[in-house]
Amino acid sequence: MTEWYDFLVAQHLRMNLMKPLRKKSAYEGNPVGLSKKACVEISENLDRHLASYVVMYMQYHKYHWLVEGPQFRDLHLFLQSHYEEVNLDMDAIAERITLLGRTPSTRLDTFQKKSYVDQESEDVMRIRDSLKFAMENETKICKQMRKTVKLCIEHDDFGTKQMIEGMLFKAEDRAHHLEHFLGEDSLVIGMIHEPSSVKEN
Ligand SMILES: [Fe+2]
Repeated sequence: MTEWYDFLVAQHLRMNLMKPLRKKSAYEGNPVGLSKKACVEISENLDRHLASYVVMYMQYHKYHWLVEGPQFRDLHLFLQSHYEEVNLDMDAIAERITLLGRTPSTRLDTFQKKSYVDQESEDVMRIRDSLKFAMENETKICKQMRKTVKLCIEHDDFGTKQMIEGMLFKAEDRAHHLEHFLGEDSLVIGMIHEPSSVKEN
């Protein structure tokens, strides 16, 4: 009898736990005096940055894990510094979405749909090609973040604007440093070449 009762209580609890507290699309309000329209429009925009940062986080991990060659250590650490920076910023973006009274995305399939940056294939690319790919993605981030700054100004959301401006500055820096790695100058004679000119044995 007690076992049956325990089973019913557990079943009841499980069913209640599985009911959503609120829908992903819900707007909870905010304590900072921003309008609902501002919060909905800006949080939708931020969610796309969040998705793109999750993609970048994994892309930088890929390059960090797979890079090899004479510059292995420099590049390995350089790429680590990028995914660490991206990780901190994606957390801040998600928390800002909650401040705006919305729910950030968390599912990998949602991130894939919402991301405006591209993912490399699962194959191992030449590191020079991967760095160029990463730089082009950072360029996309910069362009999208400038649009977000304008959207924030439209809605008087100076808090999000300031956050995004800080992130834009960091994305510009990452793009700039990637471009430096891709520079064609070298102290080593014979080390300058196009990736397509490298012959496999
Ligand atoms: Fe690592």
